Amino acid sequence: MMKKISRRMLAKQLGLITGTASILGPGAAQALVATPEQVEGPFYPPEPHVENDVDLTVLAGHEEPAAGEIIYVRGRVTDTRGNALANVRVDIWQANHWGRYTHPEDPNTAPLDPNFQGIGIARTDENGRYGFKTIKPAAYPLSALGDSGWRARHIHFKVADAAGRKLITQMYFEGDPLLKDDLAFKAAPAEERHLLVTVPEADPETGIPVHRFDISLA
Ligand SMILES: [Fe+2]
Repeated sequence: MMKKISRRMLAKQLGLITGTASILGPGAAQALVATPEQVEGPFYPPEPHVENDVDLTVLAGHEEPAAGEIIYVRGRVTDTRGNALANVRVDIWQANHWGRYTHPEDPNTAPLDPNFQGIGIARTDENGRYGFKTIKPAAYPLSALGDSGWRARHIHFKVADAAGRKLITQMYFEGDPLLKDDLAFKAAPAEERHLLVTVPEADPETGIPVHRFDISLA
């Protein structure tokens, strides 16, 4: 534990820890903080999935797309030295535009969206890259779960490679006013929470917001 902290502090002093930015230039190995773990939660959609491809906004045979703001979620999966990890399975699942999961046991009374896929599964390419098209999930109240407060907008991630490395985490949205009171988010160490928060950039071709979420596996 001591060793991990001092290595991190050293990397910080060297300016190597700035999200995933590098001062060493493209392709150079770099010290990265492992993406913090987050709770899995109870709403991973049960099998069999109707569909689980990387476009969560359309379902085969449906004329209408999912309701909500369309976004891309893209990133790279690396080890903590910055080496790309290829062929890693990346699962995402999330609430819909009204804050309801495609899960029969979600007690929230917000509407289901029959056009929303709810889950997507990707494999990273040779450069460690993955990508999804989805909608921005709504926040949801915890009252139906017998708790108080709200969950900030978030997307659940489960990342696993063939070597047995695995990470369960959640991605958040910059500027969400609920973040400051979100207990799951705040379970991450304060100095690492920024690694879970994405800032959108417009996709140059389509103008659709791209939320870049790079993942570093310990
Ligand atoms: Fe959730």
